[in-house]
Order: sequence, then structure tokens, then C-alpha cells
Amino acid sequence: MNANRIAILGAGNIGIAIAEGLLASGAYQPDNLILTRRNTRHLEGLAARGLTVISDNLAAARGAHTILLTVQPGQAREVIREILPALQAGDKSLVSVVTGLSLKDMAALTGPGVHLFRAMPNTAIAIRESMTCVSATEESRARVQPVLDMFECVGRALLIEDELMASATVLAACGVAFALRYMRASSQGGTEIGFHAEEAQLIAAQTVKGAAALLLETGHHPEYEIDKVTTPMGCTIAGLNEMEHQGFSSSLIRGITTSHRKIYKISESQ
Ligand SMILES: NC(=O)c1ccc[n+]([C@@H]2O[C@H](COP(=O)([O-])OP(=O)(O)OC[C@H]3O[C@@H](n4cnc5c(N)ncnc54)[C@H](OP(=O)(O)O)[C@@H]3O)[C@@H](O)[C@H]2O)c1
Repeated sequence: MNANRIAILGAGNIGIAIAEGLLASGAYQPDNLILTRRNTRHLEGLAARGLTVISDNLAAARGAHTILLTVQPGQAREVIREILPALQAGDKSLVSVVTGLSLKDMAALTGPGVHLFRAMPNTAIAIRESMTCVSATEESRARVQPVLDMFECVGRALLIEDELMASATVLAACGVAFALRYMRASSQGGTEIGFHAEEAQLIAAQTVKGAAALLLETGHHPEYEIDKVTTPMGCTIAGLNEMEHQGFSSSLIRGITTSHRKIYKISESQ
């Protein structure tokens, strides 16, 4: 079987975004991808582009080397049970993006002999700019590189311990919303000081993109780059200090830790 064949089981928001990202990377062709959902009508556009679209999860799992599980948490166990014959018959990798389903939970369902991984991408995966954290069971570590390579096609990927998956969800998946809220506020401030809304949004977004690229490309600490912008008694430090007096860093850190506590509360109630 083609080692590049990927089945995406439960192709909704994130499943489709992953498929789009993999195709856009050029590393995967339409015939490398098999997508499932119960109501395949919603995937007609992708079928017309040459992707295989079916509602039979087991057939999809049998036809792929790597199986991505992208259903909602409440559907995940049922789908894993459904594809057990395929998992137990062959040398497959099962990669789940399902929030709250640990590697231990997955191993309890599949039994031994299946390569198990979790991945936490974010919605920027559709434009190949995801930050995706990946974890692997001890036995699957030797097989993690192809999974990391797949997610590197659609952004950046990092191997982490499974215990940190909730933290990865907050920082990378919820993090998209946190960053966008910063940009919305920045645009609103920009309008108050003279720009039309769309000009303010462009300036805010490109400025954040540039600031992020400075860190990603140089590896510098944020404060090192901030020091370059803050002239003594200047306007940047005056604005920054006022933001800190109003609790800027503190409110971000508290938001992150609140989201983290909430994830555990949600998992306990499932
Ligand atoms: N959205 C994000 O940013 C993000 C990021 C990281 C991780 N995640 C995780 O990814 C998972 C999916 O999230 P989502 O936003 O993509 O949800 P979603 O849009 O609801 O997608 C799930 C899809 O699964 C399909 N489905 C349900 N039962 C199925 C079954 N038995 N067999 C095959 N397909 C089935 C549904 O379509 P039908 O009803 O037609 O079957 C639906 O389109 C969640 O666990 C979420 O926590 C999401």
C-alpha cells in the first residue's frame, strides 16, 4: 500500500482543513486522501477534485496507511471500535486530533500492536500555518517521524508528552482566538487614532505577522526585540507601561490558565 495514503475519518471543520492543507503542500495528491463522514453530500466538492469520499470508516481505514481521527469527542470511541478489524490486521498508524481522548484511552480500545498518536493542530492548518503538537505512545515513538513530517507540510510540528496535550490545546488551538482578539483590539485602537477599519486591520495583522516572524526566524526572546523599539522616554514604552498597569500580561496569563482549568472540567464531565 502507498505509505502516503491517508484516511480522514469524520471530515468536518478540522478534517477538511487538514485535507486542504495537505493538498496545498503538494506532498499529497488527491488520490492519496480518503475522507469519510455519514453525510457525504457535504464533501461533494472534494470528491469532484479527485479525493475518495465514502461513509464507510472501516473501508477507509483498510485502504490507508495513516488514519486521522477527526470526529467530535462523543463519536470517537464508536469510530475506533468500528475500525478495529483494520487496525488489528495491519501495520497502521492511528492519529487522533480528538480533544480529551488520551493515548491511554485509545490504547484501551485498540489493544496492543497499533501505532498510536495524538495531534493538536489549529485552524491555520488550512493555509499551512498550523502549530501542531504531537504525542506518541512509548511503543510508537520509533514511528513518530512520518507523523511529524506530515504536520510539517502544513505548518510547524512539535513532539510533546501526552500529559501536555491539554496545555497544547490552550496555547495553540485556543491561542488562535487569543491572538485574533489582540488584533481586533489593536484595529479598534487604530481606528480611534485615525485609520479606516480595513486599513487598521491590515496594519495590525501584518505587524503581528512581522513580530512573530522576528521570533521564529531569529529565536530571540521577545524582550530583546522590544528593547529595540523602546526609546528612553519614548511613546512605545509609555504605551507598553500603561498596558501593563491595566493588566495586559496578567490578563493573558490568567486567560490561558482559566482555559486550561476549563479543559479538565470538560474532560471530567465527558
Ligand atoms: N476546530 C478546531 O480548531 C480543532 C482543532 C484541534 C482539534 N479539534 C478537534 O477535532 C475534532 C473535530 O472537530 P471539528 O470542529 O472538525 O468537528 P465537526 O466539524 O463536527 O467534524 C466532525 C465530523 O465528524 C463526522 N462524523 C460524526 N460521526 C461520524 C461517524 N460515525 N463516522 C464518520 N464521520 C462522522 C460529522 O459529519 P456527519 O454528521 O456527516 O457524519 C462531522 O462533519 C474535535 O474532537 C475537536 O476537539 C478541533
